[in-house]
Amino acid sequence: MQRRLSLIDKLIVNADQALRTLVPTAAKAEQASPATPFEDCELSNNEKKHVAGLMRINHTGEVCAQGLYQGQALTAKLPDVREEMEKAAQEEIDHLAWCEQRLNELESQTSLLNPLFYAASFSIGAAAGIAGDKWSLGFVAATEDQVCKHLQDHLQQLPEEDQKSRAILEQMLEDEEKHGTRALQAGGQEFPAPIKSLMTAVSKVMTKTTYRI
Ligand SMILES: [Fe+2]
Ligand SMILES: [Fe+2]
Repeated sequence: MQRRLSLIDKLIVNADQALRTLVPTAAKAEQASPATPFEDCELSNNEKKHVAGLMRINHTGEVCAQGLYQGQALTAKLPDVREEMEKAAQEEIDHLAWCEQRLNELESQTSLLNPLFYAASFSIGAAAGIAGDKWSLGFVAATEDQVCKHLQDHLQQLPEEDQKSRAILEQMLEDEEKHGTRALQAGGQEFPAPIKSLMTAVSKVMTKTTYRI
């Protein structure tokens, strides 16, 4: 039988996970990056900068995903879907590590604002968990929906020859679609359009800032 974690245990686990998410190179992927089989390509300075901006946004998206899952894990019950949520969280760690690796290859870095976005997502995740599993899963589904829209948009914007970034984003898109569908199947509440629009507005703040810093 699993021992119930005390509050102190939980806080230590959370601090450890936050550091793994936020300290560069601390996140380790389980699956090799989908970019591995592809040759690197010549990109102009401008193209490199643009792709790095996009990959930085996607990396911060994954930082937010970690914050969200960890915040939820602290407060949500989710007895039937806990295992599945943990699997999804591991896939998000892979995404995080792949994006970071690609940013390094592009001679760029992750966003300086990540601790802020992690803290905000953690709080929202914890609040959604308190509101109940239906909302918490609904929130995952709505978030994944946003992420898929970004990914589709970024895939359009990538230079044709950048197969490495493309391979990463395509795999992420496939995984995020699956996470969203499973959250709804597990009993997540589909969010009404006004809340989704609000989420889009908030996500614009993230994409606008992290593209640059
Ligand atoms: Fe992800
Ligand atoms: Fe996801």
